[in-house]
Amino acid sequence: MGSETIDRTLDKSLLKEINKRRTFAIISHPDAGKTTLTEKLLLFGGAIQQAGAVKSRKIERAATSDFLSIEQERGISVSSSVMKFNYKNYEINLLDTPGHKDFSEDTYRVLTAVDCAVMIIDNAKGVEPQTQKLMEVCRMRNTPIITFINKLDREGMEPLDIFEDIENKLQIECIPLTWPIGMGKRFKGVYNLEKKELGIFSPGYSPKDDDGILINDLGDVRLDELITPSQADSLREDVDLIAGASEPFDLDLYLNGTQTPVFFGSAINNFGVKEMLDAFVQIAPPPGIRPSATRDVHPQEKAFSGFTFKIQANMDPEHRDRIAFFRICSGKFTKGMKVRHHRIGKDIKISNATFFLAQERSNIEEAYPGDIIGIHNHGTIKIGDTFTTKEPLKFLGIPNFAPEHFRRVLLKDPLKAKALTKGLTQLAEEGTIQVFRPLMGNMHVIGAVGVLQFDVTMARLRAEYSVNAGCESIDLSVARWVTSDDDQILKEFTRRNESSLARDAEGRLTFLTTSEYQLGFAMEEWPKIQFHKTREHNL
Ligand code: G4P
Repeated sequence: MGSETIDRTLDKSLLKEINKRRTFAIISHPDAGKTTLTEKLLLFGGAIQQAGAVKSRKIERAATSDFLSIEQERGISVSSSVMKFNYKNYEINLLDTPGHKDFSEDTYRVLTAVDCAVMIIDNAKGVEPQTQKLMEVCRMRNTPIITFINKLDREGMEPLDIFEDIENKLQIECIPLTWPIGMGKRFKGVYNLEKKELGIFSPGYSPKDDDGILINDLGDVRLDELITPSQADSLREDVDLIAGASEPFDLDLYLNGTQTPVFFGSAINNFGVKEMLDAFVQIAPPPGIRPSATRDVHPQEKAFSGFTFKIQANMDPEHRDRIAFFRICSGKFTKGMKVRHHRIGKDIKISNATFFLAQERSNIEEAYPGDIIGIHNHGTIKIGDTFTTKEPLKFLGIPNFAPEHFRRVLLKDPLKAKALTKGLTQLAEEGTIQVFRPLMGNMHVIGAVGVLQFDVTMARLRAEYSVNAGCESIDLSVARWVTSDDDQILKEFTRRNESSLARDAEGRLTFLTTSEYQLGFAMEEWPKIQFHKTREHNL
């Protein structure tokens, strides 16, 4: 179907709903304060009533060490995968990025379903490895990032040193929108550079709308009384310095991922969070245009469309029930709607889609671009699958990510070889592990972004496919999908590197090697071969 048939007549009520939506994720390293900040955001949004609700869940999860308990906890982790709340009339969808033991490809792929992100940096630690990895994924789509420097109630790095660290490691320019006054025991509060308001810190602070004290002129003597005279002087100096050294905040540069506005605070004390959230709803983008293989899809198009970015097996292995997390890209969803599942060429009726609220699930009557709906299915939906009410779209930008850990699968009962292949293929379709068949030999190599997935895979093979298998380490740590514009060269490369090549679950040629160093070596030797760190589902 050609683009000339796309109905773009302006539907004001649809546009209003789109502009109200903000769909984002938090990127951070474990312990930077993601759970604490999430909880404060949900409290502001009225989605939870008391502090501790999210936290206690995390403790339960962290205490989970074996798969069976993971399975029991799964209901909880499913419902906390997407948290929906309302703030100042904005409908906010916060997508969880599992980050402790449950770090996996899903963590990366969630970032392909959001329109923006909040990055938390621990004031004492600066940029840490997991944040760096997640940021790499954000870079792929130039996702706009707001930064929250947390734990100012503790001693840490000087703000300008953190900026330098962020700019060096993440290649994004920091533009402070608030500025801290002291830190640790000397932490007095933050000054809002734009509103020219001073927020005075007290532990266990509870913010109100009229909290900030307007200080239009930093020469105002009240400042010396509100904080100490020496702190007032340093604030004056700092603000002068920032005005001279820092570029002004530029919305377009934020929206294309070049600048990040920075806020300072203490999540646990709920301090500085409201300033960040107020700015977030104003500057974070509503759902935008999504590229597909054939054309760009605008959210206000009347025809419904969206894609699946995550599959989660449900709690009950007896029923092989799975929930597909589906991001709406255009049009309006209504309960009972009939949509086309393009990969398998069938129409399906979605009558039991679920919204995920912070503490419960609710049945959906209607939903809009930016919303995430959960669709129950029996294994027919794969990552990247597109549903529309009209033309057969294939959304782009929902890739597989190269695994970072590898294991060789050991089958304990040789008669179960077929069941093993079937089980691994289906589990790979859920997108948390990847399966490779080396060109030489007959083994299965599995790869994942987080090591917990190996235990989960073995336990699920046993529970759902009656396959008793184990896995052992293998000397591999890098995978790259390989292609070339020159078939002859690809053939030659394949012939000469057979022992380092495998096919993934979809038959794509993959180069597996022991280190980045070895990869670099191969890349130098084979300049006409492209080595890809991600692989599109829909190409
Ligand atoms: P995460 O989800 O990113 O892993 O971090 P989480 O919110 O669980 O926070 C990690 C630790 O940092 C927690 O302490 C939490 O209380 C603490 N924390 C979060 N925000 C702040 C802050 O603004 N200031 C200070 N001083 N600490 C903060 P914990 O000891 O691991 O847990 P708990 O015993 O406090 O619950």
